[in-house]
Amino acid sequence: MAQSLSYSGSPFSNTSFSQSPSAVAGRLGLAPMEGVIDADTRALLSEDGALDWCVTEFVRVVDAKLPPRVFLRHCPELATAAAFGPVTPSSTPVTLQLLGSDPEALAANAEQAIAQGATRLDLNFGCPAKTVNRHDGGASLLRTPIRVHAVVAAVADVGHRAGVTVNAKLRLGFDDKQLALACAQAAEAGGADELVVHARTRRESYRPPAHWEWIARIRAAVSVPVVANGDIWSLEDYWKARTLSGCRDVMLGRGMLADPWLARRIRHWQFSGGERLLATPWSARSDMLCRYAEAKRLAGMPDKVIVSLLKQWLNIMRGRDPEAASRFMALRRETALLPFLMGLSASEPGSSSARPVSRAI
Ligand SMILES: Cc1cc2nc3c(=O)[nH]c(=O)nc-3n(C[C@H](O)[C@H](O)[C@H](O)COP(=O)(O)O)c2cc1C
Repeated sequence: MAQSLSYSGSPFSNTSFSQSPSAVAGRLGLAPMEGVIDADTRALLSEDGALDWCVTEFVRVVDAKLPPRVFLRHCPELATAAAFGPVTPSSTPVTLQLLGSDPEALAANAEQAIAQGATRLDLNFGCPAKTVNRHDGGASLLRTPIRVHAVVAAVADVGHRAGVTVNAKLRLGFDDKQLALACAQAAEAGGADELVVHARTRRESYRPPAHWEWIARIRAAVSVPVVANGDIWSLEDYWKARTLSGCRDVMLGRGMLADPWLARRIRHWQFSGGERLLATPWSARSDMLCRYAEAKRLAGMPDKVIVSLLKQWLNIMRGRDPEAASRFMALRRETALLPFLMGLSASEPGSSSARPVSRAI
């Protein structure tokens, strides 16, 4: 469980939902997002203690046992892992995700990850990328439940002998939902301790809506805990996803990038008995983007790459926040880091009167 929450200085209003939040506290996870959620993002998004766990980007396994540096690259938190496993600087546990289709190779790499300190493993059955699916990884396994079973069983065998949790992250299917329950049951029979369900098929990609009601059908078909995922952008979405899926626990993906206070917003509502935080101010969003840039600069990343990562994050924010949308429009052609950061922190989009950009830049 993550450390205690701090909401100091956060504005709130007392508009509440009709349901009683006090009866419903559940866990909040941060979704794995390749190319977006790395150790720096995990550190920033988990720093207020509102998240219960994070998941790494997937480590892709083909047929070989990967060297330790590959695991460290995906999960630098392993370098300082204690007996209870890797954690972010705010002590939020980090689960290491593997992607592949060869049970033996996955088991060998699970062993390697465990030897390096991983205590929680996750298996990716959801990646829609053509290159990954062509090589029979990610969502493509959802066409054959027996293969989902074989992959989970191989990794669970290794994991459980070492006292390590093994979870599976599934979509509702590849082209359609016909095998949704069969795949979930196959993962459970293989020994998965918990299932995370992104409530769309691979064909549905990331298009709304997420079919949270399908997660309820999966829950009814298995006895392991199920975590709901997909399209939770707001407190209202959170509550609706929980109500329709019946899940206690949810995983937040793009919603946490769009609103870095989303987990804290949900927690505040629950712990205060229905009080709601006001909208996340632009200053908090831009501060997070600038601190992300600062971490990347300190790690030696070239400025141009940092700018493109910032644009990627801002692009997710802009769909949900008008201020982010106007900053994105003003900065979309900017490729130099300093002007980009000045533009993020300027009092007006396109203005040159910026607040100090950051401590290190
Ligand atoms: C850019 C991007 C990268 C992703 N990478 C991964 C990944 O490495 N592993 C995985 O299991 N899911 C991955 N996903 C899927 C997310 O974990 C999540 O299931 C999906 O985005 C739906 O949740 P959301 O609507 O809250 O974002 C990725 C999604 C996006 C948008």
